[in-house]
Amino acid sequence: MAQNLLWIPGPTHVRPEILAECARPMIGHRSKAMTALTERLDPGLKLAFGLAPSSTAHVAVHTTSATGMMESALKGVGPKVLCLVNGSFSKRWYEIAGLVGKDAHKLEVPMGQSFDPAAVDKLLTDKGPFDALTLVSNETSSGVRTPLASIAKVLAKHPNVLFLVDLVSYIAGAPVDFDGNRLDFGFAGVQKAFALPPGISVVCASQRYLDTAKQQKLRGFYLDPIKIIEGHEQRATPATPCISLYYALAKQLEDITNGVTLPKRDQGKTGAAAWQARFDKHVRMQQQTEAWASSNDLRMLPAPEFQSPTISCVQSGGLDVTKLIDALKAKGHQIGDGYGDLKGKTFRIGHMGDHTEESLAELLAFADDAVQALR
Ligand SMILES: Cc1ncc(COP(=O)(O)O)c(C=O)c1O
Repeated sequence: MAQNLLWIPGPTHVRPEILAECARPMIGHRSKAMTALTERLDPGLKLAFGLAPSSTAHVAVHTTSATGMMESALKGVGPKVLCLVNGSFSKRWYEIAGLVGKDAHKLEVPMGQSFDPAAVDKLLTDKGPFDALTLVSNETSSGVRTPLASIAKVLAKHPNVLFLVDLVSYIAGAPVDFDGNRLDFGFAGVQKAFALPPGISVVCASQRYLDTAKQQKLRGFYLDPIKIIEGHEQRATPATPCISLYYALAKQLEDITNGVTLPKRDQGKTGAAAWQARFDKHVRMQQQTEAWASSNDLRMLPAPEFQSPTISCVQSGGLDVTKLIDALKAKGHQIGDGYGDLKGKTFRIGHMGDHTEESLAELLAFADDAVQALR
């Protein structure tokens, strides 16, 4: 078979150069080579989280999928947590909060929607004080991006509430601005806009998060946020890390920073400018997909101001989603069905990571034909 491009909302397509990094010979995880490998990660991670030069936040990597980091984040905060729920992954935060013994509250809106900052403020005031608030920046299940600044603005009125943010399908696809958006704990797996195989997570924690976490008892071992951050900083991970993926992450962070993955129009850009160009590419791909949907009389699920730059969730408008997916698969492009209750009612295109606008144009041209044939 010719190509088989993964446009599902993660894992996404991984470049062969990155896969080759995973095939490097093993090294000891307590060796000098491992220290050198870990040191290659920090500059790129700081750019990915958008740390200000004066930032006191701490970056780290841990060998776990993103769900492990959700649990880890909660282990470091006080007992009362408010979870903003607008889809399957934000609901997972709420479930985990209960399972690790927190007094978990939720503000839930239907899938496809984001949050009214005034309603968040009211709940924090009426039912507070809360120790932490959880948010999924980009609900992969519905293609909804909640602007981080809108929640940060509310939290400015509730300065003691720690802001825990799932950046899974957002980071490396859009700017995080960790300090400017007042995040206390941000994390992501690497199989989305970082475009790596799954298996490790990246994390950033504020100093005040760490100070608070140190006061919490029963943080466990493997997901203890203090062990994770300090282990990374001391180049002594608490357990054996997935070294192959560390190689892949190091190369990808360096390639993004050196502009290697950018389209021709952006060639020559490096550093923060290269990361910004990557984010801009994702916005253009979202616009490209939306224009395609509208030219086929299809509507996006989220309102325009909440559409995700990395995942377009399109309402099926009565089209047979399974047949659409099969028709595109036959052409070498795999897109995703709707998630959970949205299965069959929506389909999702994950235009993230190292996918190109040219390749998206090819997918959308095939999708034109498939939609015509299905109608
Ligand atoms: C927004 C979001 N959060 C959390 C997760 C869970 O990630 P993992 O399956 O890597 O644990 C996903 C997975 O798709 C996700 O999209």
